[in-house]
Amino acid sequence: MIIRRARKEDYPAFAAIEAEHPGYPAWGVKGFEEEEKNRHAVTLAAEIEGRTAGFVNFWVLRPQVQLNTLAVGRAYLRTGAATALIGKLAEYAAKSLCREIDLEVNERNAAAIALYLARGFEVVGKRPKFYNNTDAAILMRRTLPDKEPR
Ligand SMILES: CC(C)(COP(=O)(O)OP(=O)(O)OC[C@H]1O[C@@H](n2cnc3c(N)ncnc32)[C@H](O)[C@@H]1OP(=O)(O)O)[C@@H](O)C(=O)NCCC(=O)NCCS
Repeated sequence: MIIRRARKEDYPAFAAIEAEHPGYPAWGVKGFEEEEKNRHAVTLAAEIEGRTAGFVNFWVLRPQVQLNTLAVGRAYLRTGAATALIGKLAEYAAKSLCREIDLEVNERNAAAIALYLARGFEVVGKRPKFYNNTDAAILMRRTLPDKEPR
């Protein structure tokens, strides 16, 4: 598996991955294209045996990194792709001298919550009725080591 910067050619595969997860908010090809105009945005792809297996998009808003969307294709679930994407994101965040990674996740998304807890995120808040005025958003944060000189 390799984790690399996303390219335009990945976007249809990203949209197909989104479609494999009904109910997950889909950006579609256009949404990923829009991100290219945002100078704070980074989109990474996970590639397995030459195939686009997953993605993560985040904004570097020093001292914070906001994780916006992350998904892995059904054929590649539980192979460590999301873990590898988060690992690269964290590396990127540390190099950019960011101190924390923040995200929101649907309270019903047990897989994602388990993933984030395993990757060192903590629950820091909750927004009731955040999704479709029904499900709450769980706010999670991972604090990064302070690398700045003292
Ligand atoms: C959540 C998601 C990204 C996880 O991707 P993944 O590549 O399968 O995750 P990994 O293989 O890196 O899993 C790492 C750990 O997360 C946890 N985990 C992942 N999926 C899980 C599941 N379905 N149930 C319970 N724990 C799970 C486990 O602790 C797992 O370690 P293990 O496989 O050794 O038990 C994937 O299920 C997905 O794309 N879901 C739809 C989109 C989504 O909900 N994204 C989250 C946005 S907030």
